[in-house]
Amino acid sequence: EWTMAHFRAEEIAKIRKQVGDKRVICGLSGGVDSSVAAVLIHEAIGDQLTCIYVDHGLMRLNESEQVVTVFRDHYNIPLIHRDASDLFLGKLAGVTDPEKKRKIIGGLFIDVFEEEAAKIGGADFLAQGTLYPDVIESVSFHGGPSVTIKSHHNVGGLPERMNMQLVEPLRELFKDEVRDLGRELGLPEILVGRHPFPGPGLAIRIPGEVTREAADILRQADAVYLDEIRKAGLYDEIWQAFAVLLPVKTVGVMGDSRTYDHVCALRAVTSTDGMTADSYPFDHSFLSACATRIINEVRGVNRVVYDCTSKPPGTIEWE
Ligand code: XMP
Repeated sequence: EWTMAHFRAEEIAKIRKQVGDKRVICGLSGGVDSSVAAVLIHEAIGDQLTCIYVDHGLMRLNESEQVVTVFRDHYNIPLIHRDASDLFLGKLAGVTDPEKKRKIIGGLFIDVFEEEAAKIGGADFLAQGTLYPDVIESVSFHGGPSVTIKSHHNVGGLPERMNMQLVEPLRELFKDEVRDLGRELGLPEILVGRHPFPGPGLAIRIPGEVTREAADILRQADAVYLDEIRKAGLYDEIWQAFAVLLPVKTVGVMGDSRTYDHVCALRAVTSTDGMTADSYPFDHSFLSACATRIINEVRGVNRVVYDCTSKPPGTIEWE
């Protein structure tokens, strides 16, 4: 009988055999896949593993602290936390084209990761949280002629540049199985059950120019929205939910004064694999409550709209 406990034991044996006494580095994103991979590999080889977390300043509220706390303090996994927000936001200044933003972020991510890896003397192995669907997709995305809708960035861009052997213990698993394995390894639910989050982070949820101010506003609005979703008990029913900050200002009224502030769009979708998706059918009262709270609590937003587009024709993210 196949169980997660068996899988865990088998993979640990395989990792030990593959790696021997060599060193491994792992890029942590804060997402489920890289987190589970890191904890599993750490269980196998202990401090031969070093994790590198590149913080681009475009994470959600408190996300970086959570990652650092779980890995460094709770699991005692050696972790380099590089705050590169000035670098990323600096290079993104004035850039509005979605693909340019993605390319800049993906490229910088690799530069910073390599720099940090070199500082600790490099390693022979690179660990990644590649899943089975990632393996399939990279063989033939949609099976048709290759059309780039978006240049996806995750830690997966690293191998071609880094000339290292890969350690990919999750290669045979689907997302729900990775979550089970994470639970088996004792990872906190806040990490294991977390909605997917794109590598470029909030940058692709701020159409137009990405500034620190816009990212701060979006972080606040996103946190209020997700707090409402959790309180309503809907978090686990939804594949992914997030706020988008539009580069559009509209007129409003607050007390007896005129306001002129940004529009915030809310998105929530159900999906099984992210390839197709439906917008989540919230009750209208839930959405109005979110709008009220966001406008009251987040300075810089005076109007909230809900995105009811499916994928296709929309994509899940806005850029
Ligand atoms: P789209 O927007 O293409 O997104 O419908 C499908 C799923 O992929 C996530 N996504 C990304 N994940 N790097 C990632 O690791 C990326 O560059 C990226 N872009 C989109 C998106 O959040 C959704 O879950």
